[in-house]
Amino acid sequence: MSKIVNGFSKLNKLEKIDWLVSNFFNNDEKIKPVLQQYWNSNEVLQNLHDDFIENTISNFYLPYAIAPNFIINNKEYTIPMTIEESSVVAAASLVAKFWSTRGGFKTKVISTTKIGQIHFMYNGDKADLEYYFDSKKDGFFKVTDAITKNMRRRGGGIIDIELRDKTKELKNYYQLHVTFETADSMGANFINTCLEAIANDFEKSDIQIVMSILSNYVPECLVHAEVSCKVDDLYAENSELLAQKFVQAIQIANAEPHRAVTHNKGIMNGVDAVVIATGNDFRAIEAGVHAFASRSGKYRSLTNAIIEDGVFKFWIEIPLALGTVGGLTSLHPLSKLSLNLLGNPSAKELMQLIAVAGLAQNFAALRALTTTGIQKGHMKMHLTNIIKQLGASEDEKQFLINYFENKTVTHNAVVEAYEKMK
Ligand code: MEV
Repeated sequence: MSKIVNGFSKLNKLEKIDWLVSNFFNNDEKIKPVLQQYWNSNEVLQNLHDDFIENTISNFYLPYAIAPNFIINNKEYTIPMTIEESSVVAAASLVAKFWSTRGGFKTKVISTTKIGQIHFMYNGDKADLEYYFDSKKDGFFKVTDAITKNMRRRGGGIIDIELRDKTKELKNYYQLHVTFETADSMGANFINTCLEAIANDFEKSDIQIVMSILSNYVPECLVHAEVSCKVDDLYAENSELLAQKFVQAIQIANAEPHRAVTHNKGIMNGVDAVVIATGNDFRAIEAGVHAFASRSGKYRSLTNAIIEDGVFKFWIEIPLALGTVGGLTSLHPLSKLSLNLLGNPSAKELMQLIAVAGLAQNFAALRALTTTGIQKGHMKMHLTNIIKQLGASEDEKQFLINYFENKTVTHNAVVEAYEKMK
């Protein structure tokens, strides 16, 4: 029987669930309670979540954690993180503590401009187009005057509008390339509204506007974060050798995209967790960051490390288009709380904190990978998940945690120990 449905969004939540259960779960009575157990008894809060998207039938929880002990530019921070991966927050806390006794993290924002583009086709004379564009350019600032007024008051607005000839890439393809400063907002709606207003005013019979949209590639919205210390202070033993291995691990990521992707994935463990906790758009961040990692034509590491005059220096440069006002940041009570916890940062400050979260994850991963291997810590953290899957009681869980205190955790080893204990 076809499962194509008309007017689904008009059904209420219970009707949607009934449809789901009858069409996909053979009217199994156990399905509805699974969804309902996550409904919030606070109706106002539930309605808020219902309205974020269409066809909400439940809430999907992710853990919300905090990683204390970060010192960034001599200021103390506790960083909120939303993530399901067991070792990420533990790694963040560990690395924060480690660097807190070695001068902490130092950061700076390199640039903050964002891009929007009006893509159009034109097959006439290029000089005519340039003349038309020049005659319209000042007017574009005027037609967007009402839209940019508040933003200008906050120090943002449209910085420049350029006509770009892209006909070498695609026949007849030109664009208006618009640069924006969006202050403390991520600015997606602002940018798109401006672009559409400009596009509406860019009317010439032989210009065919194809689309107007912001770009999530933001190499000019860039932040730098770093740590450094004497090589001798890095490890208790074999510091020189291990520091070298650390640098080599980054060289390998730069030489080998298969490794670089995993290397950067570890960085994004930290970045995304804070991006989500602060109500920002992690898909936009992911897309922009990976494009940036490929900017040389080859996918490379986002981090770098050198050893110079006995000093180990480790840093990241990463594009992050973020907001601390607007969007979900003020709508979601936990995003609001996260920003509060961070001292209600400006977007620039948040860029720096999130770059640090990424750098910290990479430090934890490379330190583990080049010394003990990743599985020791990873599986220790995963132990409780495996125990839970086995359905162990609280006492049994404690017994297994103690049992594995000095043993290697593998899935099989835990199952065996559980069965033996039983
Ligand atoms: C796992 O989520 C992340 C790592 O694979 C990162 C890395 O290999 O650098 C540990």
